[in-house]
Amino acid sequence: MTSQSLLDLPDDLDAVLADVWQRLGRAAKDRRAPMHTPVVATITGDGVPSQRVMVLRAFDRASATLRFHTDSRAAKVDQIGDGSPVSILGYDPAAKRQFRLSGVARIETDTAAADQAWGEATLFARRCYLADPAPGTVSDVPVSGLPAEIEGRKPEDDDEVAPGRANFALLMAQIDTIEFLHLAHTGHRRALFHRAPDGQWRGEWLVP
Ligand SMILES: Cc1cc2nc3c(=O)[nH]c(=O)nc-3n(C[C@H](O)[C@H](O)[C@H](O)COP(=O)(O)O)c2cc1C
Repeated sequence: MTSQSLLDLPDDLDAVLADVWQRLGRAAKDRRAPMHTPVVATITGDGVPSQRVMVLRAFDRASATLRFHTDSRAAKVDQIGDGSPVSILGYDPAAKRQFRLSGVARIETDTAAADQAWGEATLFARRCYLADPAPGTVSDVPVSGLPAEIEGRKPEDDDEVAPGRANFALLMAQIDTIEFLHLAHTGHRRALFHRAPDGQWRGEWLVP
């Protein structure tokens, strides 16, 4: 089934799941894709939900894992640690589709994958990790947090952003639940998928 026919009215669970994979894959590669910047929700130490927009950097279908980049000193990194529940929400207004994904997130700082992601990031992206003091620190005046000598310009080379590597982290979210909602005046559609321990996804329809 093509994504165009899916836009009409999804009536097949396998096709719905295929649509989810296709949109997540595109969202990770295309900065204009609506789900490129989903909302990622964690839970604070006080048990309060905390949400923020993040850029989806990669999606691996086989492991059902989404990759995000963040500063290792950020509040969400403390909240996640080695493994914590995470909920990720994306909406595609043109397709009228909402994806609510949930699973377990973990932080990686010293892995080969983190090294690779750091090496592939642009100089401007790597510059963000030079903030000093750490993101979230109270300041008497409005600040970017970047050292004055690099603020407002593109870093010249890898060496100039290298100190930021110590503050760079991956937020890896392995999802095990997907809730799909499609809005249509002819009748909404809602489906729920769970990943079984064998890695297979099983879905069922819900009343929207
Ligand atoms: C469009 C957009 C994209 C963003 N992308 C990221 C991102 O990829 N990683 C990140 O850590 N924060 C990103 N942010 C900032 C977060 O929303 C958030 O303000 C920041 O990470 C602090 O969150 P925390 O205190 O909960 O850790 C983005 C914000 C916007 C508006």
